[in-house]
Amino acid sequence: MKYIFFIGLLNIFLIGQAICDDKNIPIAITTWWFYNATIKAWDVLKEGGTALDAIEQGATVCEVQQCDGTVGYGGSPDEDGETTLDALIMDGKTMNVGAVGALRRIKSAISVARHVMERTKHSFLVGELATQFAVQMGFKEEPLTTQQSKQMWMKWHNEDNCQPNFWMNVKPDPSKYCGPYSTLDNFRRESPASNVKVDRYNHDTIGMVAIDGNGDVAAGTSTNGARFKIPGRIGDSPIPGSGAYADNSVGGAAATGDGDVMLRFLPSFLAVEEMRRGATPTDAARTAVLRIAAHYEDFMGAVVALKNDGQYGAACHGMDTFPFVVQDNTKESFRVETVQCLK
Ligand code: GLY
Repeated sequence: MKYIFFIGLLNIFLIGQAICDDKNIPIAITTWWFYNATIKAWDVLKEGGTALDAIEQGATVCEVQQCDGTVGYGGSPDEDGETTLDALIMDGKTMNVGAVGALRRIKSAISVARHVMERTKHSFLVGELATQFAVQMGFKEEPLTTQQSKQMWMKWHNEDNCQPNFWMNVKPDPSKYCGPYSTLDNFRRESPASNVKVDRYNHDTIGMVAIDGNGDVAAGTSTNGARFKIPGRIGDSPIPGSGAYADNSVGGAAATGDGDVMLRFLPSFLAVEEMRRGATPTDAARTAVLRIAAHYEDFMGAVVALKNDGQYGAACHGMDTFPFVVQDNTKESFRVETVQCLK
C-alpha cells in the first residue's frame, strides 16, 4: 500500500484546470487524499460495474478505514460522546436518491443509504428510526464509539470545558462553560464568530462522483460530521444537491467542508447546473464556492465537479490547497491532483 501511495505522490499535479477528452470514461473522482476509496471505485468500474456500485464500494472503504477519522465509526463524537453517521447516494440515470442522517450504531452508512434508495419509496431516513430500518434490512447494530473517540470526548468535556462548541445566545456563556444551556433573552442577532476550528480533520467528508462504461453518472458522500456537534445535527453531506448531486444529462459534483454553512447554498447542485449552462467543471466548482464566500468570507470547503464527457475540476476556499483523487483509463494509477484555493 505504501508503494501505491508513493506512485500517487509522484503523480501530484498543481492544476488550474484539468482538461480531459471523452476517452477517460469510466472515471472516478474522490475528495481529499482518499486514494484507497478511489482505487476500489476504479476496480469496480474497470470490471464493468456500475457507477452506483463504484460509489457505494469506494465510500465503504473509507467507512471501514475511518479515513482521516472523519468518515465512519469512532470519529467526531457529538456532545454526548456518540458518533453518528451521515451518507448520501444519488443515481444520475433515474434521479433517485437514498440518504441517512444521524445514523446510530450502524457502520455501513452509505450502504444503508443505498437501501433507502432501492428498498423504499422514500429518500431520506434519520436517527434512531434509520437504525431500525437498517436492522430490518439485515445490517449489524454495534457501537460506533472507540477508545480513541472516548478519549477525544473526555478531553473536550473534562479538560477543555466543552470548548469549542456550536452554541450561541444561551446561558451559561457557551464560550466558557459546558451545558446544559438555556435561552438567553436579550441577544444581538448577528452572524456568529465561530470558535470552532473548521479544517480537514473536523468537517471532512468523502465525496465521490463516478461515470461507468455505460455513461451513467452517480455521486455520494459519507461522513461522521462535525466534532462535538450538538446531538441530532446533520450537515451538508446527506443533503441531495448539497453533499453531492448527479444527473446523467450533465455530470455530477460533490462537496466537503463546513456543512452547516454549505448546505444553505446547495453547492453540488449549483455546480451541476453551471455545467448544464456550459461552464467547465473548474469554473462550475468555482462559481459554487464563490456563491458561499460572498456570504461567509471565511468558510472552509471545496467542490469537485465531473462532466459527463469526462472533464473534471475542483475549487476550494479557506485552505491553501485542496487535493482530490482521479482514476480513469488514461492513467496507470490513481492521480492526486491539487487545486490552489480561491482564498
Ligand atoms: N461536511 C461534513 C459536515 O459538515 O458534516
